[in-house]
Amino acid sequence: MQARQELYVRKIEDGTVIDHITPGFALDVLKILGINGKSGEVLSTAINVESKHLHHKDIVKIQNRELKPGEVDKIALIAPNATINIIRNYDVASKKKVELPSVIRGIIKCDNPSCISNSMEPVEPQFGVDRREPIRLHCHYCSHIMEREDVLKQF
Ligand code: CTP
Repeated sequence: MQARQELYVRKIEDGTVIDHITPGFALDVLKILGINGKSGEVLSTAINVESKHLHHKDIVKIQNRELKPGEVDKIALIAPNATINIIRNYDVASKKKVELPSVIRGIIKCDNPSCISNSMEPVEPQFGVDRREPIRLHCHYCSHIMEREDVLKQF
């Protein structure tokens, strides 16, 4: 299986491999990165492929691109088991799992319009993590619950 998979998603020379993405969410990861295929990035994606550690996974490989911390924080919300591999000259130069903290600050907004974090006063949105996967958050200010689909709408 691995050999067949490599045929479709071959190794890259320089760039980023986002591995162990929750199956079915690679296109959402691309959306987080602002990639729609029309600005010339060279990338490949594997969706719902077999994985050594997990049952299935998605993979995104982007040439000549590294990720910003804010992008990694967003990816952690929808793919908390993802691994970010930085590739230099065909070698894995660094490998890091994304981190999903127990409190989420400032990455997404509360979608309750009456929440104090949406008032004119500048209050940083803050959420507690009730469940990691699929993500389920509660707003620190108004206790409003946000599920994965609600989070995805903001990306
Ligand atoms: N990879 C790549 N291009 C390279 C090197 C690695 O596309 N030049 C990809 C591999 O295909 C794999 C990921 O980057 O999807 C991580 O590579 P590696 O650490 O060699 O693989 P594993 O040991 O299987 O990783 P892990 O233990 O994180 O599952």
